[in-house]
This record gives sequence, C-alpha cells and structure tokens, in this order.
Amino acid sequence: MTSGNSNYTTTGAGIPVSSDEHSLSVGPDGPIVMHDHFLMEQMAAFNREMIPDRQPHAKGSGAFGHFEVTHDVSKYTKANFLKKGTKTDVLIRFSTVAGESGSPDTWRDPRGFAIKFYTEEGNFDLVGNNTPVFFVRDPMKFQHFIHSQKRRADNGLRDHDMQWDFWTLVPESAHQVTWLMGDRGVPATWRHMNGYSSHTYMWVNDEGERFWVKYHFKTDQGIKCMTQEQADQMAGTDADYHRRDLFEAIKRGEYPSWTLHMQIMPFDDAKTYRYNPFDLTKVWPHDDYPLIEVGKLTLDKNPTDFHSQINQAAFEPNNMVPGTGLSPDKMLLARSISYADAHRARLGVNYKHIPVNTPKCPVNSYTQGGAMRIHNATDPVYVPNSKGGPHANPQRFPEDAVWATSGELVRTAYTLREDDDDFSQPGTLVRDVMDDAARDRLVSNVVGHLSAGVTEPVLERAFEYWRNVDQEIGKRIEQGVRGN
Ligand code: NDP
Ligand code: HEM
Repeated sequence: MTSGNSNYTTTGAGIPVSSDEHSLSVGPDGPIVMHDHFLMEQMAAFNREMIPDRQPHAKGSGAFGHFEVTHDVSKYTKANFLKKGTKTDVLIRFSTVAGESGSPDTWRDPRGFAIKFYTEEGNFDLVGNNTPVFFVRDPMKFQHFIHSQKRRADNGLRDHDMQWDFWTLVPESAHQVTWLMGDRGVPATWRHMNGYSSHTYMWVNDEGERFWVKYHFKTDQGIKCMTQEQADQMAGTDADYHRRDLFEAIKRGEYPSWTLHMQIMPFDDAKTYRYNPFDLTKVWPHDDYPLIEVGKLTLDKNPTDFHSQINQAAFEPNNMVPGTGLSPDKMLLARSISYADAHRARLGVNYKHIPVNTPKCPVNSYTQGGAMRIHNATDPVYVPNSKGGPHANPQRFPEDAVWATSGELVRTAYTLREDDDDFSQPGTLVRDVMDDAARDRLVSNVVGHLSAGVTEPVLERAFEYWRNVDQEIGKRIEQGVRGN
C-alpha cells in the first residue's frame, strides 16, 4: 500500500521503519524479540493474504470501462443509465465456472460475463455468461450440477463419468451441453466472445408499461474460438492466457468493445408464447424477437490491484435500478438471494464498503455496525423520524417491475407449453446453425470427452441423449466412441 509523496517504508500505521531487511534482535547473533511489531505485522498480514475463492467462477479477471447508450430505448425503459447519450462507468469480470483460481483459462467451460454498472441510481449488476442458456432450469439442481462438474470426494479428481451421469439424467441440460461441446465452448480470448444475460429480465417505461427483455452483448472483435487441440496445448503452456490477453490488449490501447442488443417481448406475449419465456434452457429465436441495438460497452482501464478490485468484486443479480427488474425465472429468483449471501460469507457483511463495490452515487442506508465498516453511521439511526433523516422516494421505486401470480405452494416443474421440449432447440443449433466442419468438431469434442473415463450405463445414456438432439450426430458419436 502506498499513499502520500514520501518513498520511505512505513508500518501500516504510517510509522517509519529503519530496515526492510533485518529483524530486531538482541545483538547481531542473538534471538529476535517479541516486540518487533513490524516483523509481526508483516508475518501476520502474509498469513491472512488469501481469502476464500468464489465457490463457482473462481478463476477470472476483469477490467474497467464505460457503457454508452447510442440508441433511444426510452419507450421501453425509464432507467436513467439507459437514456440515449448517457455514459456509465462499468467493471467487468470474466471467469470460468468449474475450475479453481489457478486452473487453466482454456478448459472447456462456459465463461462468466459479469458487469457492474455504476449508475447514478445505484449499482446495476448483470451477472451473465457467454452463453444464452444454462444447464438446469430449477435452482434446486444448481448445487448438484456444480458438484458434478468439480471434483470427486474420494480422490479429489475431476471426473467425466460424473459430469455425464448428471447431464444425461437431467435432459434439460442438452441445449447448454450442445453449445458447450461446440466451437464456442472454448473462446480464443475473452475479447472474442459474446455476453448474454441468459435470463429474461424486465424493463418498465415512464408510463409503467412493462416488457420482458434479454440482453445480448455482441463482441465487436468478432467471434474466435480455439479447437480442443489448441486449448489443450495452451492449458499446458500458459494457464493464464485469457487473463494475460485482456490485460495486455488494454495496456496496448486496444480497447475491446461489445455492442448491446436487446430482445424485447411485450408483457402480455409471455402468456401465450410457444415457449415458456422464463425457461433458462431456451432462447427466444431471433425471428420471433429480433435484436434491437442499444449501446456500446468499452473496456479501457486495467486494475491496479487485482486482489482489491477483481478478487473482492461482488456482483449480485438482485442489483436492479428503477426501470429494470427481475422475472419469474425460478433460477433468477434464487440467484437474487444467493449472491449477497455468498459475499457476506466470502468478504464480510460490509462488502459494499470495499471501494470497487461502493456505488458512485449517494448511499443513504440505515444499516449500521458489523465488521470492517468503513462508512460512518449518522443520526437519526431509525426511520420514520422527525429529525430530517433520509426517507423513501415513492416516485423512483424499483418495485414497479412486478407481475401478478397466484396458486397453491407446490414443488413441481414449469407447466409445459406447445414447443417446450428439451431437444428441439439443441437440434436446431446442430442442424441449422452449425456447418459441416462445426458438426465434425462437435462430434470429435464429444467423442474425446466420452472416451476419457465415462463408463456404462452412463455411456449408453449419453448416446441416447445425443440421438435425441440429432439422430445422425448421435450415431456418429456412438461410432466414434465404440470405434466402429
Ligand atoms: P439465428 O440463426 O437467428 O441465430 C443463431 C445464433 O447462433 C446467432 O446468435 C449466432 O451468434 C449463434 N451461433 C452461431 N454459431 C454458433 C455456435 N457454433 N454455437 C452457438 N451459437 C452459435 O437462429 P435462432 O435465433 O432461431 O436460434 C437458433 C439456435 O441458435 C438456437 O436454438 C440456439 O441454440 C442458437 N442461438 C440462439 C440465440 C438467440 O438468442 N436466439 C443466441 C445464440 C445462439 P452470432 O450472431 O454472434 O454469430
Ligand atoms: C458466481 C450461485 C446460476 C453466472 C456465483 C457464485 C454463486 C453463484 C454463489 C459465487 C459468487 C461470489 O462468491 O462472488 C448461483 C446460483 C445459480 C447460479 C445459486 C442458480 C440458481 C448462474 C447463471 C449464470 C451465473 C444462470 C449466468 C447466466 C455467474 C457468474 C459468476 C457467478 C458470471 C461470477 C461472478 C464474478 O465474476 O464475481 N454464482 N449461480 N450463475 N455466477 Fe452464478
């Protein structure tokens, strides 16, 4: 830590120290003494440098930049930061999902694409991925899913058998797994991939009219991916390749950017749309809801302290500002309570006081106390009060991003709609979006994955799973694995 103009070392209390090299001892050859508090401070700080990793998404990095609105979307949202011409500071963190903080950047995995917008009405966090869909549609399955992608209890090894065991027993994973095993499962760099909200969110305009929306950040650098061979080689030669690439590009002045497009669905369409529009395993086909351009996100500033600015960054999908909101997607609703809980466990109750998480607008909260509190509480410490303390503003309330709901309390799946099956959309991806060469790489990637430790009966279920996605692809995968 450095502050001020002097270049002399001090203790954390600012007291000058007389040596960076020698501890305090009784004569040159005698024992060190306990009251060498400078040595003690150095040893104690070192012992406490590591904080817990994020449970998922442990490996990653990020950068600062800004988001500028280039198109008028005021008929869809009243959000101040989405008004044409508005420029908002942002922080992004990219990540892999399953690996630990030292794991290779080029392992096949979805990539996190988490953005914090420091808006004048509070922090707006969009905690998305580089994929438009996800493996499961009910939060009850999320922790089991993550466990199956990480390490076994007995030998601490990752295990393809348990990954495919889970995926094939949960067929709603087929869309995300098809996407993952395709080219985009290993982006060439973070600069060359798209970011998606994946979930459906809400926008509300000045008249209180509501819309369901999906956010798509399309890379301006163009999509580039690595083949499995390139990714395997890179994992061995430069495990931090993606982290390095982003940092060095920004250092060179090559600022990566993404153009934000939205899919916007009128509120009432959701009732009759052929897919459940809140099912996270489905996309809204572009023909049904075309992309609408909104603005540009540019990254132009590297972190200066990885730990305090990237490791301690805390994103939470519940951070929605007026004019934006959540949706009935069960996954999103669970996420809206999970992240703040994770931050309290990982960073402490006052994690919002860490500068990277602090809004760049006034904060008038009545919370107080707790470990590592930075901002002073002020009187009055309660509301309502007649002492001039802050009070709620009914004109700017985020709770108008709501929907009506009713029913008995149940534990059950979403009601199925006309086109709600697990295999049609992945089938479309394979047949209509991929070309022959991309299909060949898909088959090769899956054959390689299944040939690395997957056993019966999981293997037979995997062939059936792929035949359900596409008969021909399933046949080719089985032939590739069985060697005939
Ligand atoms: P479109 O033809 O309009 O869109 C196809 C989309 O697929 C484009 O967004 C394209 O992204 C993306 N894409 C291209 N190659 C790949 C690949 N190898 N892996 C994953 N995505 C790829 O079709 P629809 O909207 O009707 O969707 C058809 C299928 O495309 C869906 O079932 C879904 O699997 C996939 N998809 C759809 C998206 C959506 O929001 N509708 C988003 C992404 C994928 P780009 O334009 O950036 O190249
Ligand atoms: C990180 C929970 C689904 C994207 C995390 C973390 C938790 C979590 C606890 C670690 C947070 C931290 O310690 O800072 C969940 C739960 C989910 C879910 C309970 C489902 C019910 C998703 C989905 C997406 C996603 C669907 C993408 C659309 C991310 C990203 C991060 C993350 C990008 C890393 C954020 C960062 O860079 O700090 N998730 N998650 N998660 N999750 Fe999720």
